[in-house]
Amino acid sequence: MLYRIEKSFVFTLFGASGDLAKVKIFPALYALAEQKRFPKEYFIFGYSRTAKSDKEFRDEFRKSIKGEVNEKILSELLEHVFYFSGQYDSPSDFKKLSKEVLIKTREKKVTMINYLAVPPSAFSGIITNLASLRKSLGDDLRLVIEKPFGHDEASARELFHEVSMHFPANRIFLLDHYLGKEAVQSILSLRYANGILNTLLSGRLIANIQITASEDLSVANRISYFDQVGIIKDMIQSHLLQLLALLTMELPVEQEASSIHREKISVLSALKYRGYERAMVLGQHESYKSIPGVKKGSKSPTFAAIRLFIDRQDWYKVPIYIRTGKMLDKKHTYVVVEFKKHPFQMNNKDIETNKLILELQPQEKLHLKLFTKIGGTKNEYHDLTTSESLACYGDDCLPEHARLLLNVFQNDQSNFLSFEEIIATWKFTDKLLSCAQNRDVPIHMYQDYSRGPREQNKITENDGFQWLDIPLK
Ligand code: BG6
Repeated sequence: MLYRIEKSFVFTLFGASGDLAKVKIFPALYALAEQKRFPKEYFIFGYSRTAKSDKEFRDEFRKSIKGEVNEKILSELLEHVFYFSGQYDSPSDFKKLSKEVLIKTREKKVTMINYLAVPPSAFSGIITNLASLRKSLGDDLRLVIEKPFGHDEASARELFHEVSMHFPANRIFLLDHYLGKEAVQSILSLRYANGILNTLLSGRLIANIQITASEDLSVANRISYFDQVGIIKDMIQSHLLQLLALLTMELPVEQEASSIHREKISVLSALKYRGYERAMVLGQHESYKSIPGVKKGSKSPTFAAIRLFIDRQDWYKVPIYIRTGKMLDKKHTYVVVEFKKHPFQMNNKDIETNKLILELQPQEKLHLKLFTKIGGTKNEYHDLTTSESLACYGDDCLPEHARLLLNVFQNDQSNFLSFEEIIATWKFTDKLLSCAQNRDVPIHMYQDYSRGPREQNKITENDGFQWLDIPLK
């Protein structure tokens, strides 16, 4: 039986005319409707500044649903969809919204989910205005905020201070869409299900960890944001450090939010950057400066490769390499855990180190690289890699945002972030960026659709390792 939301709800999407709404949220709502997860009575409000009618909004919603569409389900869903035009900082607009909501719900107190798909500058107004509606709309007011959470430690603290003044922690959902990915979620389920895997994920046995997130596109429609922040804040600060935490944290005793958050915080607050010039390579793709909206002479990196460490007993000597870039030769996200050689391991040209490889996208796969002797009398070895798909199959597969939204309805924060984790990752990121600035780390130009700057190799080579390029199959 699929989980079905039973209680009536109102879902308000702030920033309903924006890209995030069209590309992620509308399709997520449709996916939930398609799996018949919604209760009998629910209302979806799009809220943004542009004036438009319900009909125009429904047409936009309809157009954003791509692929195989069940028209009947979509039309039924759209009957629950309404539009409200208002300013984000206007108490009177929020009062009008609450009146509309109460008319629709016939004054019943229902779960109110509020999704902030707006630029951070609009957060404050929405949060304060929403909180003031609690009296009329009831206590079950939930807030979903998607990354970026501030732009450094200080601004993140400010945001959290503001949010916490108006919402209790158990009603705040801090969303990083990487935690909705099938393969990312499978890290914990694999660790819980397989004692041996968990034993292997120990700093004592691991030579190094490599995380690669390459993208074959640049930034186009979010350029003004990206040009200000650069790739380290955009990709590493949250997405890739979360991935690292799930792999290297102690396995939480209980599979619930507070235990998971506690373990993630211990790892994330132990991240250390050392080695300076040997530990960071930045790059910018050749055509970046010609993208409309990029500042003249922009030094925003579109590629970064870094080395870091986790200052914890078993991990402190294990280098962690992270690289990510825009406009590279392909879209491919994967993690390689390279194991140390066994003391008695043979020196044979056919035998490599053992590796655990987790591919996140475009395919979701797990590989364990082992070697065995070719039968017979020859002293030759061959690859005995076992590979398994981690892709979802069956009737309850959902896109990232739909999965996470379902968790919001279930009031389950285990796939969301905690304030403390975010602060820990900002501390680390701020340190990294101030090193880059103080040491004037150069920005290497790289060709569009290449593998990024060649200089990235020195980061691993200095430690006697190599980046492992996993072919796309
Ligand atoms: C977003 C970043 O958070 O994640 C984008 O702002 C990036 O710049 C995107 O392209 C990558 O997400 P995914 O799911 O395609 O790996």
